[in-house]
Amino acid sequence: MEILSCAELRKTYLSGDVKTNAVNGVNLHIQQGEFCAVTGPSGSGKSTLLHMLGSLETPSAGKVFYQGKDLSSYREDQRAVLRRRRFGFVFQAYNLVQELTARENMLLPVMLDRNQADEAYLRMLVERLGIADRLDHLPAALSGGQQQRVAIARALANKPAVLFADEPTGNLDGQTGREALALLKETSTQLGITLVLVTHDLHIAEQAQRMLRLEDGLVAWDSAAGGGQ
Ligand SMILES: Nc1ncnc2c1ncn2[C@@H]1O[C@H](COP(=O)(O)OP(=O)(O)O)[C@@H](O)[C@H]1O
Ligand SMILES: [Mg+2]
Repeated sequence: MEILSCAELRKTYLSGDVKTNAVNGVNLHIQQGEFCAVTGPSGSGKSTLLHMLGSLETPSAGKVFYQGKDLSSYREDQRAVLRRRRFGFVFQAYNLVQELTARENMLLPVMLDRNQADEAYLRMLVERLGIADRLDHLPAALSGGQQQRVAIARALANKPAVLFADEPTGNLDGQTGREALALLKETSTQLGITLVLVTHDLHIAEQAQRMLRLEDGLVAWDSAAGGGQ
């Protein structure tokens, strides 16, 4: 079943007189539970595409559909609810709140949603991610790998339908990065979460069910389409 799609999606940035077509007319259909890796050179539009699919940025043209619903018909507060309840995000820079402990960071989306925490689920997450004995620490007292695991736990805390990860292992050394990615992948698979992962690490991308390559804001190659579009 299709969960997320986009049609003729475009994003143009204007800075001064300079116009950049970051995303240049992308059409995609992503199935529920799919693990989709997005690769491509720096500046090819990977982050911009991910942000539009995750409703963090508004398209200049074209549409994004979540479960067949056109997100441009949503009000901004409805999009915020969608992001909080149905989407999870992991970024290269972790983006943890420095004043909060690992546990508080992880619980933040649940609290923002005024939800009851699912204690058993959260315990399973922290155990799988190997951060159970780090929950009372502030981010500054954690290694990069541990901080990224906390960020992964936070992204998964609300049991999202789609997890968007933008170069999540970009700041980690090879071994730590591979471990964090394996956890991300296993946990998503186990929970049936759709995973859209941006990476320029081909070794990582090869582990995905589906690989897309962006070039100049266009899908240059899509393994699900049997190659180029
Ligand atoms: N906020 C912005 N303002 C102006 N240009 C931007 C902005 N964000 C991205 N760009 C430009 O859009 C293009 C695509 O960027 P990005 O999506 O970040 O690519 P990638 O993630 O593949 O490296 C690049 O040329 C980049 O410089
Ligand atoms: Mg990027």
